[in-house]
Amino acid sequence: MSSSTALAGRRVVVSAGPTFEDIDPVRFIGNRSSGKMGFALAAAAAQRGADVVLIAGPVALPTPAGVRRVDVRSAAQMHDAVLATLPADIYVGAAAVADYTPIQVAPGKIKKHEGYLTLELVRTRDILAEVAAHALRPSLVVGFAAETENVEGYARGKLERKKLDLIAANRVGVEGSGFESDGNTLTVFWAGGQRALGPAPKTELAEQLLDLIAERLA
Ligand code: PMT
Repeated sequence: MSSSTALAGRRVVVSAGPTFEDIDPVRFIGNRSSGKMGFALAAAAAQRGADVVLIAGPVALPTPAGVRRVDVRSAAQMHDAVLATLPADIYVGAAAVADYTPIQVAPGKIKKHEGYLTLELVRTRDILAEVAAHALRPSLVVGFAAETENVEGYARGKLERKKLDLIAANRVGVEGSGFESDGNTLTVFWAGGQRALGPAPKTELAEQLLDLIAERLA
């Protein structure tokens, strides 16, 4: 089967964008993910005839043609929305999910005081690891790794620890790659292999990553 037809009829779930963790009614903890990488993957998978569900954090992007979109705000909402899509054939976690969230959301706007403000944060649930350990585990679970240094070491650590099939690592904090930009450079790792993709526009990288996913699925 060619890589362009391998995804036809497959159920593909993609997460994209940031999560916003509310502190009070007016403030939140967020990150710089625009959703471009995940939306490009969802669009390209739908183009290949996959049945695509896109779990989107708060982003300002139009829904790609042929994609079913579920909008969420927080990591907890993204967790529940992703898990509700199972069973699926492929899960791609391109979202930048918050690792920590406030223990509680203040009911009213927190007022300014002299000195420090201390926020108590708690770890969020790891959606990717839970999908990979799920009884309805997709055939292929693909993570992303956003790293500023030791890209291969940290990415391979996540591949193993989270029991993934593939991890696409990108260096963040550099111009023209990672968060917000239209382009990116990926190195994809799996047990016993790796492939460099790009630098290229995220739309093109999405096609290249789907080619690799189709190969690994075969
Ligand atoms: O959205 P863009 O502006 O286009 O930018 C694209 C991107 C840089 C956000 C994307 O390419 C990317 O790297 N996404 C993953 C960012 C990230 O959160 O990486 P991480 O190394 O912190 O997390 C590793 C993996 O675990 C990711 O697949 C993440 O979705 C997943 N995760 C993390 C925490 C958590 N609680 N649940 C998760 O599922």
